[in-house]
Amino acid sequence: MNIAFVGAGYVGLVSGVMLSNLGHSVICLDNNEDKVNDLNNNILPIYEPGLADYLEKAKINNKLSFKTNYDLSLTSIKVFFIAVGTPSLACGRADLSYVFSTIDSILPFAQEHSVIVIKSTVPPGSGKVFADYITKKSNKVLHLVVNPEFLREGSAVHDFLNPDRIVLGCTSDYAFQVMLDVYTSFVQQKVEIINTSTTTAELIKYASNSFLATKIAFINEMADLCEATGSNIKELSHAMGLDHRIGKDFLSAGPGFGGSCFPKDLLALTNIARELGVDAKLLNAVIHSNGMRSVNIVNKVKAILDGDLTNKKCAILGVTFKAGTDDIRSSPSLEIIKKLREQNAVITIYDPVGMPKAQELMPDLIAANSALNACIGADIILIATEWQEFVNLDFKQIYDKMRLHIIYDLRNILLDKKLSEIGFKYYSIGTQHE
Ligand code: UGA
Repeated sequence: MNIAFVGAGYVGLVSGVMLSNLGHSVICLDNNEDKVNDLNNNILPIYEPGLADYLEKAKINNKLSFKTNYDLSLTSIKVFFIAVGTPSLACGRADLSYVFSTIDSILPFAQEHSVIVIKSTVPPGSGKVFADYITKKSNKVLHLVVNPEFLREGSAVHDFLNPDRIVLGCTSDYAFQVMLDVYTSFVQQKVEIINTSTTTAELIKYASNSFLATKIAFINEMADLCEATGSNIKELSHAMGLDHRIGKDFLSAGPGFGGSCFPKDLLALTNIARELGVDAKLLNAVIHSNGMRSVNIVNKVKAILDGDLTNKKCAILGVTFKAGTDDIRSSPSLEIIKKLREQNAVITIYDPVGMPKAQELMPDLIAANSALNACIGADIILIATEWQEFVNLDFKQIYDKMRLHIIYDLRNILLDKKLSEIGFKYYSIGTQHE
């Protein structure tokens, strides 16, 4: 099938590359000329494990192309996916202007019975508005589908190939059948396909992200209780997760959730609830609780360092919002860095893949070219992202380079016993320390 993706950002790029590997012919459109040139030279604009191989394979098979301009090649397209950004407006509402302008650009090329698929995360009710807009603006019979995506950065290729479900909010049976053809290999694998309204599909996406964020906020609160009671969060998470009604995923306590999705989607959903007169107490509490993580962590660092952060040297290992990505958007690490600096701490950062983006955002920070170099002369190390590289560090060597010997492991990835034997004072999330 001939498919187009508009927006070669994270969602559009991964989905476009992967759908072309399922045998479809895919054109990806993006208005960023540099990005398109890079992609035509097989250079990815994002760090995503495994994606480069699939990009190359699709190109070799002539199944994938990238371009900046809408042109007549689009008249053979059956399904147009829209995967442009829906950033938060100052009021918290999602900005849908990019979706509308994309629809405007697509309409001259859409053929009778083309299907327009919204991949971008949009508030409940938007699909209906888009469908009305399309009907008003075009005299052809077109179909609208809302098809939210559930890929995680860092494991997007795996997630694409192993979906838990595919959600299709359809405006017609015809559109549903076309989408079954798009996802035919998953239909054959008996992946559950949810055929629902556009509004329910939109809410499923927000509800799923909000629920996962709630799970994280919950376990972080349990971590605080573990610290207060002398219990152990890892054992608690493990034991809770064994209950299949709870499930083991998203129960890792840490510095709070970040990234381009959870914070934005929670904000949008609470905003929608407010506008509709629904009292979203729980979701508001989750936002508040997550916002307090960095405050509490910095307070603890201060307490560990005798109540004064002035000129205390903090080595921050990890700036990305989680491991496996170079994305630093709404990264808890950055929030912690900002707050430490407000109290005059001296910060050195290191991240295996996030340095270019971090340095672009904070050019005045001291950037080290290795974890070891970041720790030279440091009073405390904060492990802010769960990179495997940090687990494998030579901590004996690091010990000799530091001024004080303190580690605060915000991701609970290191071993207390091993570090204590070396002589470190080790702190983690959700265990009691004197
Ligand atoms: C999230 C969802 O998991 C995807 O299903 C969804 O498609 C995506 O948002 C989106 O809406 O586009 P992502 O933001 O890539 O994916 O990352 P997650 O793996 O969900 O992690 C989000 C944040 O939660 C990270 O900061 C991570 O460190 C944190 N987290 C995650 C925890 O603190 N503890 C956990 O147990 C799991």
